[in-house]
Amino acid sequence: MNERWVRVADTKDIPTGGTLQVRLGVDPVCLYNIDGCIYATHDVCSHGKASLADGSIRGDEIVCALHKGRFHIPTGKAVGVPCTNDIRTYAVKVEDGAAWLNSE
Ligand code: FES
Repeated sequence: MNERWVRVADTKDIPTGGTLQVRLGVDPVCLYNIDGCIYATHDVCSHGKASLADGSIRGDEIVCALHKGRFHIPTGKAVGVPCTNDIRTYAVKVEDGAAWLNSE
């Protein structure tokens, strides 16, 4: 498996229980901080054009700000209507005080 890690944010900029929108190349990505663990998914909701970074974290799910659809953050699975299509997730590593995404 090829790996190419890209530094996308300082971890201090991702608040506990919060989100941060970043870019991986041209792709918008949402970073999540769940009790100090960092996760990453595509930032655009699969139901509409909402940024998931504008949503709110509930447990290990993100609730879309627009129509309250929900996704399981670690897997990207759609778990709440009106969302039915899963979203992409990204491998994350934390190193040197930063979040890195595998761009392959
Ligand atoms: S745009 Fe996200 S639930 Fe509709």
